[in-house]
Amino acid sequence: MNYQKSLLPYPSDGIMLLKGSFVFSKVLTLGFQDSCFPEHAQFLQEYLETVLGMEIILSAGSDNPDLLITKRKELLGEEEYVLQVEPQGCRLSSTSWKGIFTGLQTFIQLVNSNRTLQCCRITDSPALSWRGLMLDVARSFCPLEELLGIIDAMALYKLNVLHWHISDDQGWRFPVDGYPDLVSEDRGYYSRDDINYVVSYAEKRNIMVVPEVDMPGHMIAALSAYPKLSCTGGPFVIPTGEGIFQDILCVGKADTIAFARKVVDTLCSLFPSPYIHLGGDEIPLDRWATCPDCQHRMQELGYKDEKALLGWFSNEIAAYAREKGKSTILWSDYVDASYDPSIITQVWNPLLGKHKRFHSNHQVIKSDYFHSYLDMSYALVPLSRVYRYGKSVQKDRKQNTKVLGAELLLWTEYLNTREKRESHLYPRLLAGAESFWTKDSKLSYTRFKRILTHDIQLVSDNQNNVNKPSIWDPLLLEQIKARRARKKRVTANSKEAGISL
Ligand code: ACM
Ligand code: ZN
Repeated sequence: MNYQKSLLPYPSDGIMLLKGSFVFSKVLTLGFQDSCFPEHAQFLQEYLETVLGMEIILSAGSDNPDLLITKRKELLGEEEYVLQVEPQGCRLSSTSWKGIFTGLQTFIQLVNSNRTLQCCRITDSPALSWRGLMLDVARSFCPLEELLGIIDAMALYKLNVLHWHISDDQGWRFPVDGYPDLVSEDRGYYSRDDINYVVSYAEKRNIMVVPEVDMPGHMIAALSAYPKLSCTGGPFVIPTGEGIFQDILCVGKADTIAFARKVVDTLCSLFPSPYIHLGGDEIPLDRWATCPDCQHRMQELGYKDEKALLGWFSNEIAAYAREKGKSTILWSDYVDASYDPSIITQVWNPLLGKHKRFHSNHQVIKSDYFHSYLDMSYALVPLSRVYRYGKSVQKDRKQNTKVLGAELLLWTEYLNTREKRESHLYPRLLAGAESFWTKDSKLSYTRFKRILTHDIQLVSDNQNNVNKPSIWDPLLLEQIKARRARKKRVTANSKEAGISL
């Protein structure tokens, strides 16, 4: 049998083949040595039953079950695991549940590939500790069932951060006490129970949910419900489609600061993640320049321009989040030396000056526009480019340990159906997942593409929503044309909004 054809992401330290084989029967017995990981036993049984479609029987003790979970005493990396296939059965060991869960995905892929396994030893750990997918549910609402399916796919390919973009100009998707008009049934939103369910569903699958509320820009949905939070008082209409909009939160008003704090309170109460993302991209500052309240705040603080006022607001809100035990992530657009060094920046725009893309005193998450924006066409972001991206982030990480990792991004201004979202996500999600996990010396695009082409079923259980292999890597000329056109459009959008790149 050929393990090269079945494992994705490929194990970082490769696969050591050994003599002998192990044959699975129709029923799989599962054991936990010395009753380790007791709180996860039932979940694991149910999870394996669902994913493998086999009956799973929990066996007591360590009487050679088909799969024995063991806890390693020596400290391995957080998600590191060792999987051994022996003639008596398989053993999966790690120091932590995270490692057991990631190793379990490798086990599942082995079992799915063949019911007779050649004996082997796999030692595996991730190249990047932050391996994320950003999902924009503000522009197009993503129903709960679809969202859980995406989390399942992330888990299978060992992505570990769901960056959940839950508000923007075009929609606000979660309730905040005291601001009931932010959400409505007909526009679609997640209740507190929905959010708790998603967080716990993801957590069990080794996925941390990091919520994002983009502020002070990207706020029209909130301003349309509460115009008093703006500089002009409105009225506002929730836009559809792409754009950078002039109306933003008025940071000169006490009510607005109270609102921003209430939003942070809500995020802190709903999401256990130690990180929250507070946006901070694409902020036209023209309204602040003519707003008496903003100008008054500026004078009070002794600032000369609106950009300094923005720095103040960002630092204030990050300090508030820090008091509540959260680290703040901001898009890198405006972050400079005046920003609190504990703020993590997420770089995205290659058109921003180099100094804005990489900040030596801040930790960094990378999500480059032309490599990781999965809402773009395959001509702009071909499958091979996504695959190369992980490799380049791994190189950055070796040079600078402040690079935490990378994310794939799915914005949804134009992806308003499940079919469109899935055809943009798959198979590029797998290219990102493998290149973020597998150490670069073991990455091989040829091998990766061969797996996908042979086994498209791996990509999605609904083949209709996966684009055909012929469009995954368009001709170079097509790519260059698409990139030129897109750069022109981004520059024009920013110019129109009065934002200089
Ligand atoms: C972004 O694409 N505005 C982060
Ligand atoms: Zn104002």
